[in-house]
Amino acid sequence: MFKFLNPKLPVIWHGGDYNPEQWDPSVWDEDMALMQESRFKVATIGVFSWAKLEPHEGEFDFSWLDEVIEKLSAADRYFILATPSAAAPAWMTQKYPEILRTGSDRVRRLHGNRVNYNLCSPVYRQKSALIARKLAERYGDHPRLLAWHLSNEYGGEDFSPETISAFRDWLKAKYGTIEALNSAYWTTFWSHCYSGWDQLDAPGGPHGEVSIQGLTVDWRRFITDATVDFMLNEAAPLRELSPDIPHTTNLMGTFPGLDYRKFNANLDFASWDSYPGFGGSLDQTSVWISVAFKHDLTRGLSKNGKWMLMECTPNSSNWYETMTAKRPGVHKFEALQAVAHGADGVQYFQWRQSRGSQEQFHGAVVNHGTTNNGRIFGEVKQAGAALDALSNIASTAKRAEVAIIYDWSSRWALDAAVGPVQRDKGYEQTCIDHYRAFWEAGVSVDVIGPDSPLEGYKLVVAPMLYSLSESTSTNLSEYVRAGGTLVSTYLTAWTDENSLVFESGYLAPLRKVFGVWSEEIDALPVGQQVSICTGFDSKAERYSVVDFCELIHPTTSKAIAWYDDEFYAGRPAATVNNYGTGRAYYVGSRNDQRFTNQLMTSIMDDLGIEHLAGELPEGVTRQVRYGDEFEYHFYLNATSLSREVETVGWGTVRLQPWQVEILERKISAGDEEPVLLAATEG
Ligand code: GAL
Repeated sequence: MFKFLNPKLPVIWHGGDYNPEQWDPSVWDEDMALMQESRFKVATIGVFSWAKLEPHEGEFDFSWLDEVIEKLSAADRYFILATPSAAAPAWMTQKYPEILRTGSDRVRRLHGNRVNYNLCSPVYRQKSALIARKLAERYGDHPRLLAWHLSNEYGGEDFSPETISAFRDWLKAKYGTIEALNSAYWTTFWSHCYSGWDQLDAPGGPHGEVSIQGLTVDWRRFITDATVDFMLNEAAPLRELSPDIPHTTNLMGTFPGLDYRKFNANLDFASWDSYPGFGGSLDQTSVWISVAFKHDLTRGLSKNGKWMLMECTPNSSNWYETMTAKRPGVHKFEALQAVAHGADGVQYFQWRQSRGSQEQFHGAVVNHGTTNNGRIFGEVKQAGAALDALSNIASTAKRAEVAIIYDWSSRWALDAAVGPVQRDKGYEQTCIDHYRAFWEAGVSVDVIGPDSPLEGYKLVVAPMLYSLSESTSTNLSEYVRAGGTLVSTYLTAWTDENSLVFESGYLAPLRKVFGVWSEEIDALPVGQQVSICTGFDSKAERYSVVDFCELIHPTTSKAIAWYDDEFYAGRPAATVNNYGTGRAYYVGSRNDQRFTNQLMTSIMDDLGIEHLAGELPEGVTRQVRYGDEFEYHFYLNATSLSREVETVGWGTVRLQPWQVEILERKISAGDEEPVLLAATEG
């Protein structure tokens, strides 16, 4: 819908949560001057302002917000306006206690905290739609309004009577008959059969059912649908009254509680809040790779590839075990890393550090006792200048030949499954480990859903896709048949979407695609390793394996690695199969990173995917954004050491600690040599 996040401000946005209502209006003019100085262009306002906007039921006070918006406009700033539903005013919870959330212990919460509402309360839905309508009526056509920010970090479960009753209706609509539900849930086991819909209840918590995996996963699906429905309810008046203003909501990366793919029903662009934890050392490549994965995941959640980093902190987060201060330059690195992955905006929580309450020590732009003399303010100013220098990049896009599938349903089903290990089965980390192979090779990746269109990708990696729906099975099979290359791992296609093991066993719907059937798994205790090898001569490479060894039987496939230990020594550990005009690899064991990197590199070589595997120094990656005429190569040094990089086309470049170098190349027509243009020092 929009080539830019919003064409009203066609640059990379820089700004953040602005909570002027916490402060005496006498500081607002200083705020404006400091925003100008730090190139903080976009203020997200109203996120938690309900008590100030509607101090008494039905009495609205917009005077302070009018004044703030006037000041922002006069200072040539823009604003994103939030609906305030993440925290209800006290008068409301006092008069309508039923709007409060009920925990899994079935106790209704008291007033306070946030995201503390009953997801299905008719009163809360009516109140949150009303305040959204009032905001849209008053500010919907303001020339400096850039976007609607729906609520704040939707999340969490709710066990209120209204929500449980909505769950029963949801189940009825899904299964039609109680017999169909019983059969999908295998309820004859332990005599758990239901004979009426009103016997069904939310699973989990200290008192609830935990032994029916299909019910557990359905509950998560339902909570997602109920949350999306809650969002659409407050979004409706905004759509009606200001149809040209884009909508977003701040997501939380791989947050396990909600299937974010369902949110794109109402996301004109996606956004997320990134607060990586470092536990003392910022020099952890794995943390920056995990952030990169979540950036690419967020980009894949938007309809058009547009996204922004809605929140990050220029310093530390106060809710980690230790508040590790961000070292000089790290914040600018973080901002440019987001842009390298396609972000068109970098914003903060929050502008001015709060004097009191929960987040009084959380990093902010203007910190306690400082103005423009603070170290962090200086870091933000530098990031602002770097982002300003990139304004021509705002309408460019990422493009990837490789996709990784990240599937919330498989994650939920794996979490619910009792076995093959009781500890975390590591779904998210396994996806990130595969992603790492591409990050280290400087290859851009799209992180997509199991039913996302696959044509156009040369390589699709679907680790641990444990629960497989019919539509996903068709999607993957058709992709390979038509010439695509697919890589999957152990614990793929063990069950259908309701957590029932396929009648003819693991991997059943994809056996022809992989040319493999899978019989059983040997799970290893923590600390135990076995090994696999890629041949049985002196040239064979050996790799270590932890956690999972799936015992597979090739039918039409050929083995590319073998187990080297245990009673299954000599049996295949990984295979490749030709199917249609494509190929499918099955990796049966959880191998070390070296195996994953080497396999991905050799597949990229076969497929002609350009990569820098083995050429980039440790902790350095390359990411590319494409415009109509130019492409921008970002070389990112995610370490505190200086690094020398052999670039593609620009010779050797020295990167200082945390430096990002951006090289601009004119896209060549035909055989014409690429023209190298100016380098921007990020
Ligand atoms: C986010 C939230 C903000 C603030 C921030 C820092 O998750 O949206 O309101 O709490 O974290 O902790």
